[in-house]
Amino acid sequence: MQGPCRINTVSTNFFGEGALSLLPAEIKKYGYQTALVITDKFLYDSGVAGDVCNKLSEANVHSYIYNGVLPNPTTDIINECLSIAYEIKPEFIVALGGGSAIDTCKAVGIVLANGGNIEDYEGINKSKNKSLPIVAINTTAGTGSEVTTFYIITDKKRSSKMVMVDTNCMVSIAVNDAALMRSMPKSLTAATGMDAMTHAVEAILSKEATPFTDKDAVWAIRTIREYLPRAATNGEDMEARNMMAYAQYAAGIAFSNAGLGMVHAMAHALGGYYNLPHGLCNAVLLPHVMQYNGRDKSVQERFRLIYDALGLKGTDYFIPYRSMVESINDIKKLSEQLGIPERLSDLKVNKDDFEALAGLAVKDACMSTNAREASLQDIITVYDKAY
Ligand SMILES: [Fe+2]
Repeated sequence: MQGPCRINTVSTNFFGEGALSLLPAEIKKYGYQTALVITDKFLYDSGVAGDVCNKLSEANVHSYIYNGVLPNPTTDIINECLSIAYEIKPEFIVALGGGSAIDTCKAVGIVLANGGNIEDYEGINKSKNKSLPIVAINTTAGTGSEVTTFYIITDKKRSSKMVMVDTNCMVSIAVNDAALMRSMPKSLTAATGMDAMTHAVEAILSKEATPFTDKDAVWAIRTIREYLPRAATNGEDMEARNMMAYAQYAAGIAFSNAGLGMVHAMAHALGGYYNLPHGLCNAVLLPHVMQYNGRDKSVQERFRLIYDALGLKGTDYFIPYRSMVESINDIKKLSEQLGIPERLSDLKVNKDDFEALAGLAVKDACMSTNAREASLQDIITVYDKAY
């Protein structure tokens, strides 16, 4: 029987195609006048950021745009964005984009409310005050960052990712409008979708999984397995886009409250070192870490939930070891179907770096909830197997 636990979710959410149109009426309730919209160059050049500013002006909000967000946002980006925020003094900040924009926004919001530098907040619940209010308009499916207590910033000096887990960083309003996800190319749809799948799998295998997080993680796996291949094959399939928006959100709630594990710890190290897409690193590592964790008999039992959620049918469900093997095979099949590279060697990763990478991964905050203990050597072995 599990002890008492805390569950965090976002209080106001807008979902579905066209959900952005519901935002102005909500913003009006707060009486804000100034916002900083934090986004990337693509969303700025394609006019989406302008559309968002128009929506904000319907709520009588004057907005400024920062469009310098890049994948795997760095401390330099946070500092650049902060210097603009100090000047314009926004009452709230708006993230427009995927995990990188939302994580940048969380970092900026925490520093604005607490002072100091972003490096001061690495770790678990390091801030004192709640972030400046954040509106997250999500355009990928995804990181689930709009609903989690997590954000990740790359420390350029150390070439490593800082993991922040902080209940003060949670956004106030989340928008998951499938229409904004329509233009994602196949490779981004596949990689971000597999990130969400990894969140759900790691949440189920986490040491801190609860019936609440299992419920969301199981539904997320089932939905991603069904709709991700459709969304990746045909970006205009709005039913698939919409279901992926819900699924990645459910996976986000699951991992935000259960924690992650060794896939993310190892992927953070890879992403920080080589500036590789987060979802791609997870997708390549996921079957190998499942295999590592599944060698523990008590963890094998948990694979029955994953087996069932993947829609696998058969008597293997009753044999934990078999349900683990079949779940891993199905995850590999899904990645292949999505055109995701199979091995780390395909990502131009250098084998000589494995010891350094494992050194970063073993200290990553996500390791604390991994299903099974892992030494430095264990992690090097998993990198080797994935190579
Ligand atoms: Fe992730």
